[in-house]
Amino acid sequence: MIPYYRTTIFTTNLRNGQIEIEIEIEILDPCLIEFCLVADQKGVPMRKRILVPWAMPEIGKEVLRKARVETFFIHGPKGELPSLRELVVAVKEADVLLPRGTQPVPRKVMIANPNLCGIANYGVGYDNIDVRAATEFGIPVTNTPGVLTETTADLAWTLLMATARKVPQAHNYTCSGQFRGPGGKTFMGQDIGPGGSNRPKVLGIIGFGRIGQAVMRRSRGFRMKVIAYDPPLKVIIQKMKGVQYRELDDLLRESDFITLHCPLTKKTHHLIGKRELDLMQPTAILINTSRGPVVDEEALDSALKKGKIAGAGLDVFEKEPRLYPGLAKLENVVLLPHIGSATLDTRGQMAVVAAQNAIAMLRGKKPKNIVNPEVFKSGEYRRRVNAFKCFRKGRG
Ligand code: 8YV
Repeated sequence: MIPYYRTTIFTTNLRNGQIEIEIEIEILDPCLIEFCLVADQKGVPMRKRILVPWAMPEIGKEVLRKARVETFFIHGPKGELPSLRELVVAVKEADVLLPRGTQPVPRKVMIANPNLCGIANYGVGYDNIDVRAATEFGIPVTNTPGVLTETTADLAWTLLMATARKVPQAHNYTCSGQFRGPGGKTFMGQDIGPGGSNRPKVLGIIGFGRIGQAVMRRSRGFRMKVIAYDPPLKVIIQKMKGVQYRELDDLLRESDFITLHCPLTKKTHHLIGKRELDLMQPTAILINTSRGPVVDEEALDSALKKGKIAGAGLDVFEKEPRLYPGLAKLENVVLLPHIGSATLDTRGQMAVVAAQNAIAMLRGKKPKNIVNPEVFKSGEYRRRVNAFKCFRKGRG
């Protein structure tokens, strides 16, 4: 147990033959631990545990409660995440870790617990987790694909429109009382549809997985020409209707709007740098709802300042949550705090999927959304699962 808290049992009730005990743990440090423990009929606690080091939506907690798995939560009173040091201490008490999508889970966390038998990420992206180390240690890692596709595509589209038509800038101007009728600032933007000159605009999609394709569907009403770059999907894209494949440089040269939907990997790190920004049109707009480090922010800042491109809409940042110095002062940017999947419904469903994955791994079963399936072949994985079986036998 983490050494710096005080516990208080505050409810005990009998529901559907289960005794449910909730314990609130008050940490003397900045964190608050909410400890929810479900015991069996004899009141014996189920001892395998899931650690959720963030404030999970209630609908996800409900899945964990119904499965009668013991879960403990660590987060600050306003949902603040624990530090890495606190995570390393807490993970020693857990069998499965269910981290928030962008919460770092380095090798150090895995080393801290030789019996950890799963990491169920709350998010489709999993660059926050050292998956290589997890595979080496025999730890399965899962994510939450599918449920957030449409919501993230909505946000990418919102950002594209807001950046093209300078909506936040015009809003701030109006709200600050500067709008005094004709003759004021006009906030001239870029057309998304064909505009007065009736020229269909070109939408360049980099990363043509689920979210990239959902963005393409949204472009239909704007009569855009869609081009896409995604090397592993090249052949599939070439056979698809409504989209044409382009190599990266051609896509950058041709597009009026470029939107990024690729995962962050070694290959996509700084995929958009000075050379790529130089290829873009001076009227082009760059949208990033994928991961910050896909764009070299220093190069982007310079391109925006020099007018090499017309604008950028960013939901993610290279050193998140820190912004590149001066970026927020630029007139041609719209910046959001990583809210791509942030709707009540979608974040709730992500919590449900992550909880289901965590429960499967806690029970030594293969989870649905595995990102490192090769782990199942490893001896170290079998050792961890067998340790689990011995544990169950021991409980009778
Ligand atoms: C975050 C995301 O995970 O799913 C992803 O890849 O980027 C987001 O949904 C979310 O902010 C939870 O931390």
